[in-house]
Amino acid sequence: MKKSLSISVLSIINLPSFQDKAKSLADRLNLPCHQSIAEAASEFFLVYTEIGLQFCIYSNPDQMQSLLYVDFVKGKNGYRHSKNSTIRQPLAKAVGIKPGVRPSVFDATAGLGRDAFVFACLGCEVSLCERSAILHCLLEDGLSRASQETKTMEIVSSRMTLRMEDSKKILQNSPRTYHTIYLDPMYPHRPNSALNRQEMRVIRDLVGDDDDGGMLLEAAFGAAQNRVVIKRPKGAVELSDRKPSFVVPMKNSRYDIYLTSV
Ligand SMILES: C[S@@+](CC[C@H](N)C(=O)[O-])C[C@H]1O[C@@H](n2cnc3c(N)ncnc32)[C@H](O)[C@@H]1O
Repeated sequence: MKKSLSISVLSIINLPSFQDKAKSLADRLNLPCHQSIAEAASEFFLVYTEIGLQFCIYSNPDQMQSLLYVDFVKGKNGYRHSKNSTIRQPLAKAVGIKPGVRPSVFDATAGLGRDAFVFACLGCEVSLCERSAILHCLLEDGLSRASQETKTMEIVSSRMTLRMEDSKKILQNSPRTYHTIYLDPMYPHRPNSALNRQEMRVIRDLVGDDDDGGMLLEAAFGAAQNRVVIKRPKGAVELSDRKPSFVVPMKNSRYDIYLTSV
């Protein structure tokens, strides 16, 4: 369930340019902006740090713990980029990537942009859409940093575009612009699931349960040139009365693929 979190914005980099960034982000998100942690009464912070914008919790005195951070250059995404970007991976197969074929993808549930980055690394043009203002600004910051690094510059600047919107609105009135529409709504909440990693728990607290996944899927059917892909937990019911054209199974989840081209 979506929680009402008390969030402030601040910069721990004591430079006017970063203080200004923090102020304008706070204005955009309608959140308080503070000069220091001591001034703020909130538990959660969007913080400009040396490595970029992070979503943090401040629980113990002098302990700021980073909960969410988008990094396409190093870490897991950097690793994927250099070692794991193969067209044989299930995610690539699901969206229709084949030798010589790179579909354009509308990622309607962008989140932290990981799946979208894989599509872009493999050569697809990706339009990302995220409706949570907090996730959107973290993703925007990650994309901006990656666009300044030599190894990710081309991928991010020429193949990834981000907007903040409810994707249903875009898809409901969209001509069939994209070859593939990719959906990865939040999984239904399963208490005590080993899969409930801290990061996913935090995202769930911020965005809720994505209960409108079925409506998003219906909207996508009318807007995809070739296929709609939805990621589902293993064993979960389909989110539509329509049967998937085929399924790409994985260990704990699966991709349901609906071909839409005639
Ligand atoms: C499980 S996360 C997606 C993770 C993402 N695939 C990744 O690789 O980081 C689901 C995200 O979809 C977003 N979302 C769900 N429904 C949406 C909609 N109708 N429009 C825009 N964003 C949506 C949620 O806010 C959440 O951030």
